Amino acid sequence: HGTMSINAEGRLTIGGCDTAGLVAEFGTPLYVFDEELIRQNCRAYRAAFMQDERIQGEVIYASKAFMTKAMARIIQEEGLGLDVVSGGELYTALEAGFDPARIYFHGNNKSPAELEMALAAGIGYFVVDNFTELHLLNGLAGERGVKASILLRITPGVEAHTHEYIQTGQIDSKFGSAISTGQALAIVEEALQLPHIDLKGLHCHIGSQIFELESYRYTVQVMLDFLAELRSRLGFTAEILNLGGGFGIYYAEGDEPASIAAYGQLVRESVLAGCEERDLPLPRLVVEPGRSIIGPAGTTLYTVGSVKEIPGVRTYIAVDGGMGDNPRPALYQSRYSALLANKADQPAEIVVSVAGKYCESGDMLIWDLAVPRTEPGDILAVFCTGAYNYSMAMNYNRVPRPAAVLVKDGQADLIIRRESYADLVQNDVIPERLKK
Ligand code: LLP
Repeated sequence: HGTMSINAEGRLTIGGCDTAGLVAEFGTPLYVFDEELIRQNCRAYRAAFMQDERIQGEVIYASKAFMTKAMARIIQEEGLGLDVVSGGELYTALEAGFDPARIYFHGNNKSPAELEMALAAGIGYFVVDNFTELHLLNGLAGERGVKASILLRITPGVEAHTHEYIQTGQIDSKFGSAISTGQALAIVEEALQLPHIDLKGLHCHIGSQIFELESYRYTVQVMLDFLAELRSRLGFTAEILNLGGGFGIYYAEGDEPASIAAYGQLVRESVLAGCEERDLPLPRLVVEPGRSIIGPAGTTLYTVGSVKEIPGVRTYIAVDGGMGDNPRPALYQSRYSALLANKADQPAEIVVSVAGKYCESGDMLIWDLAVPRTEPGDILAVFCTGAYNYSMAMNYNRVPRPAAVLVKDGQADLIIRRESYADLVQNDVIPERLKK
């Protein structure tokens, strides 16, 4: 997919770059990002949500999926806004020169320091999760003599079919105020009374890696019913309706995502028809995709080390990374597809399971992968690792985090330097009394 191909030497190429060449130059594990595909995905979202004359749309990229300064530049160039959930993501965006007015700040427990930082930067919107935060923000904005523009995060009570760790729309959730408990109405009333808060609209997010478009149609109904209630009971009209992200992607056999275009059409049509039915003025429609923009654009290259056959049981091939650079299989039993990048033209002959190098039995990247005969030194390419891999990477076992390159038209540019051993100890401190 994307700009991938197989060259005359039988090796996988991405963005016109031979993966063996990338490995020789940058080492492994290596995250490879296909710039063309990132841009195509951004454009597909713009076409699906921002080019309907009937309804105004905005697409904001969810930084948590993958964020670096280079990524912020691409997102800005493609005309998308940004969703950040922490001071660190905000800092990265600002350092990259991202327009603060197009930043939405999420999170269920933003600290006073984070809120201050965002107020000082003059970001566009705070997505306020709860009463504590609402009052805190009102106070901090007051001290600065400004009004903070906010959306309130609402829990619509939609149970999307996805892994329970990434399901967020249900009532019993750490996120947002539920409509069905009356809390959502109460927090809207409260926000409307606070002098340093300017309530612009509502936000919801039902979960991630969602395939059923119907979940979105249903969510729109629930949110519009609530908007209609707010209008009749409080005389409040929302300018913005933010439906969150969550659109699923293909990782492995059995995953069947719809197209971004179909997703956009369903959401737009549901909002248009729903507003007409309820006699509601059209809000500006915001969506915040992360995974579906960056996931398919990332590939991780590993070097195969140990190959261990347990006769009659299983063959393990171990790679030089694992749960440190991709915790998703260990956390969510996520599945991935992969191939041997240096033998991309060879037919599969054996079935192996791909183990990581971390000291955990759960550190398995893929179970039962059909591959050509595998030897130490082969390059394994694991696909669709662009989202929630680098952003969730860790230094367990004091393994440095990998480098990342951006490839396009045969050119590869480093966007994240490989961590060094020196980086690993840079914040370690030996107290004086241990120095004797
Ligand atoms: N908006 C909000 C409020 C979110 O919480 C999220 C994701 C998104 C947008 C973007 O969702 P996406 O389009 O990427 O599905 N670590 C998990 C995923 C956690 C998602 C958290 N929130 C994983 O690796 O699957």
